[in-house]
Amino acid sequence: MSQPLEPRLLMCPPDYFGIEYEINPWMKLSRGADAARAGEQWRAFHQTLLELGAEIDLIEPVHGLPDLVFTANAGLVYQEVFVASRFRHRVRQGESPLFESWARARGFEVLSLPHGLHFEGAGDALFCGEVLFAGYRFRSDARSHQWIGERLGVEVLPLELVDPRFYHLDTCFCPVALDTAIYYPGAFDEYGRAVLRDRIPRLIEAAADEAVSFSCNAVVVGHTVVLNEGAPKLARSLLDCGFQVRPLAFSEFIKSGGSAKCLTLRIDGEEAAAWKYNEARIALGETGGV
Ligand code: ARG
Repeated sequence: MSQPLEPRLLMCPPDYFGIEYEINPWMKLSRGADAARAGEQWRAFHQTLLELGAEIDLIEPVHGLPDLVFTANAGLVYQEVFVASRFRHRVRQGESPLFESWARARGFEVLSLPHGLHFEGAGDALFCGEVLFAGYRFRSDARSHQWIGERLGVEVLPLELVDPRFYHLDTCFCPVALDTAIYYPGAFDEYGRAVLRDRIPRLIEAAADEAVSFSCNAVVVGHTVVLNEGAPKLARSLLDCGFQVRPLAFSEFIKSGGSAKCLTLRIDGEEAAAWKYNEARIALGETGGV
């Protein structure tokens, strides 16, 4: 048994999804999402993840919380700990109690940030290997990441996001293996790009024209990367690196500023998170050094 843990994800059906406010440059009240099409796209994605072997927890959709579908923003999972999000915009703050009670029911220890700090979960904080890469400015605060790093005892590398279209880190950065990540350089400043190049052995660059179609917002299950259709160059690079690629349609969610990755929260640890494998070894009773 090489992989004792089933991939597990949290998702929320898009029953009440829609564009009801504008809190990022993609959202336009005048350009609503087609509910039927959103439903079809979500179900095709859900089905694909099940076929890839994922076990999926569903949180119940709630009228008046159109962005609850974006479960990546629920919080950050680290081992048995769930660091709850503190949304910057009031319109999303009603999601937090729902995500927190889900996490408690799931047996997580829930950590809450000190008052006044904003943090938008796995949308802005992604492990690649041992390191937590953390985006700040538009949604999460750099101080939140610092606090999380101290509480979890992990190294955090804060990255400033400089382009409002890429307002969450997961819109422009996607770790796909312990040593490999996709990124869109234009979303970072020179310092951020240098940090990424220095700390991640294999970086796969997304071109500007494909980054704007949310191609960096991908979900990785095993060696398969599920991402928005219309990114042939990135798909080719991923194939060349030994991944399989499953392009799907996410047009209705992109109108809200989200795509594949935002619609999921990995509960058992991302494929690229080193702690996931350390836990797996412990589960297998391997006590040797990790
Ligand atoms: N409309 C949502 C918002 O602006 C989209 C969230 C996308 N989530 C993400 N992890 N990038 O908050």
